[in-house]
Amino acid sequence: MSKKLWGTRFPKKTCTLTDKFTSSIAFDKRLAKYDILGSIAHARMLGKQRIIPSKEANAIVQGLNAILKDLEKGKFKFDLAAEDVHSNIQDLLVKKIGAAAFKLHTARSRNDQIALDIRMYLKEEVKELVEMVALLQNSILKLAKANQKVIIPGYTHLQMAQCVLLAHHLLAYLEGLERDKARLLDAKERADIMPLGSCALSGTSLAIDRKAVMKELGFKKITENSIDSVSDRDFIIEALADLAILSVHLSRIAEDLILWATKEFNFIDIDFSFCTGSSIMPHKKNPDVLELIRGSVGKVQGDLSSILVLMKGLPSSYNRDLQLDKPPLFDAIDTVKDILEIFVVLFQNIVVEKGAIACRLTDESLFSVDVVEYLIKKGVSYRDAHDIVGKMVRDCLDKGKKISSLNRSELKKYSPKLEPDIKNILSAWKSVSLKTSYGGTNPGLVEKQIKNWEKKLNARI
Ligand code: ARG
Repeated sequence: MSKKLWGTRFPKKTCTLTDKFTSSIAFDKRLAKYDILGSIAHARMLGKQRIIPSKEANAIVQGLNAILKDLEKGKFKFDLAAEDVHSNIQDLLVKKIGAAAFKLHTARSRNDQIALDIRMYLKEEVKELVEMVALLQNSILKLAKANQKVIIPGYTHLQMAQCVLLAHHLLAYLEGLERDKARLLDAKERADIMPLGSCALSGTSLAIDRKAVMKELGFKKITENSIDSVSDRDFIIEALADLAILSVHLSRIAEDLILWATKEFNFIDIDFSFCTGSSIMPHKKNPDVLELIRGSVGKVQGDLSSILVLMKGLPSSYNRDLQLDKPPLFDAIDTVKDILEIFVVLFQNIVVEKGAIACRLTDESLFSVDVVEYLIKKGVSYRDAHDIVGKMVRDCLDKGKKISSLNRSELKKYSPKLEPDIKNILSAWKSVSLKTSYGGTNPGLVEKQIKNWEKKLNARI
């Protein structure tokens, strides 16, 4: 067991159960890199400000750089008996450079130190997450472009509704993911504020230079209030809320693909390399990857809940409860990264079943709104047009007839405005072509959207 940073005031040793229960090294060790970088900047500042002799500041910086190198090379052995990552690194530094190491903690508390570490970690992770979301968008865009002319029946309430371009449906995913990136980048802004120098809660009487540390660590601003700096974790809640929303999107995309891969839909085939089989039913090819994506999302939502519950009603300033912000934070980030990593490749392994999809487009109920709009264009009110087409669709379904098979006099029974030329609009291609309103599924508009996305995504990757 390493020497406690606070042991002197204690007349006796803490119980080993207490040590085990309060230790966080098992999970906060992943913050080691940020802890070291933060300490290097802090030591340099202490030296420059002549709070500690520059010789000792240099020794500390050199020692920490050596520890960082070991960490990068995987040679850093974490001491799982240490209370936390801060104590572990401090111990190592003492071993490396001796007594000068004890000056590193001048004008600093673990309360502001941990706040710094998580902010640095979060900034880096958010950057990576946004890049991964962009890769997924690119993967989806490629599938859309390769199948630009494919029309599918669109669904509402999971009932066949109207024809849409498959590409249009896929581009809808890109819109949501784009907002997810924007939300995450926004959360990064709130993480990009440097808390070090707040110390335990009140600041310090020593002449520190917080702005110098901010600049060295690449932060945009410094925190304005030392109590708030050690107290709040709203920047984590915000990032987790954004990840929870992103994962809702990911689960809904997964669900669409699961449905589309069923025999009943048969819109897509997912390559065997991204499916699994059944131990009992030899014929099965199951979309387990997608199901696990759908399922993992629950963890991310749980992570958000757990940090909200952790923070609710906490007294101001630092409380040890805050140590427990890290497991949900790490879990949410790891889970979403794992999902994104496999989703990017899964999208490259989807084949669109064009023939099977085309067979679904012969159901003329898909064009009922087109006939309604045909009548509206001839001056019929929306209400009357809806009734006319409703009656026509009902009769056709009852008699097993197609609208396109009705002759002139049959059509006239429903409305004098109906002419045999309605046959011209009873096709999937015509149906999508007619949807020229901005944002609609018209092929020309969708092609333009594809081009816009290509420009937008290429510019950012
Ligand atoms: N491990 C703590 C955390 O993650 C930081 C240590 C602060 N400990 C203390 N006794 N003030 O929040």
